[in-house]
Amino acid sequence: MKKVTVHSPATVANVVCGFDILGFALNSPMDELSIAFSDEPGVTIINEDDYSLPTKAEDNVSGAALLAMLEELPDVKGFTLYSKKNIKPGSGIGSSAASAAGAVVAANHLLENRFTNADLVRFAMFGEKVASGVKHADNIAPAIYGGVTLIRSIFPLDIISLDAPELHVTVVHPQIEVRTSDARQILKQKVSLKDAIKQWGNIAGLVAGFLQHDYDLIGRSLEDVIIEPVRSILIPGFDEVKSNCKDAGALGGGISGSGPSIFMLSKDAAAALAVETAMKEVYNKIGLAYHTHVTTINKQGVKIVASDNS
Ligand code: HSE
Repeated sequence: MKKVTVHSPATVANVVCGFDILGFALNSPMDELSIAFSDEPGVTIINEDDYSLPTKAEDNVSGAALLAMLEELPDVKGFTLYSKKNIKPGSGIGSSAASAAGAVVAANHLLENRFTNADLVRFAMFGEKVASGVKHADNIAPAIYGGVTLIRSIFPLDIISLDAPELHVTVVHPQIEVRTSDARQILKQKVSLKDAIKQWGNIAGLVAGFLQHDYDLIGRSLEDVIIEPVRSILIPGFDEVKSNCKDAGALGGGISGSGPSIFMLSKDAAAALAVETAMKEVYNKIGLAYHTHVTTINKQGVKIVASDNS
């Protein structure tokens, strides 16, 4: 029986000002998923880690994504999925997207690439719906396409891959859990025109900064006047982390996805390490456990690491 194994990356959604429309993939951490055809109908899930994620396909993000794919595969009975997570669920760096994106990319490889990347995003969004109650693609798209992606629209899907300069990413994950569904529920449903103008100036500036490889413009545009003021109250030490990281040399940053992780972008590896030290100092002072990741933007997205007959 053929088995395909992939590594599926963590992602940073929103990229501060681009709520639900911007995201990028990271070179670490990554989940590992393997898939094979099954004679059992539907999706059989085998968890190979200690997170106790649901094994009922409908309740599992990989399972829901694969079930959506199976709807369009009258000739396939089922899949068996093996999942080994390294991205902690609820961390804010796209754990559910890594599960959903990894599963559909692996299955597509098994199917000799019957589907386009846009189809895979469409299937994987069913997984995001299980995780957060809504379909959003700002983690899924960068996980599948790699690099920085702009989701201009999800209905219909319109995904644009953006060129970007070399960027180093530092992430701190304070060990509290923020559920994406909760972090969405607290958001205001109305935005003032004044804030909207500021926000779309920043989004346009950030996209232009990426395309023109203009680090200063990227830094100036990493400002969120709509989502961050509401969500940051859920993250202890947020303001201090942000200002100390900028003092340590970061271009800027903010909440990763719906939090609680905070990410910072830097121009070079030395600055990214100085930013990590600044993050650690804040959480050591507060006395809150944390994990950090110092990495770069992943240009490839989900990667096939093995495809063999076992
Ligand atoms: N755009 C989503 C949100 C990302 O901020 O709710 C969740 O990771």
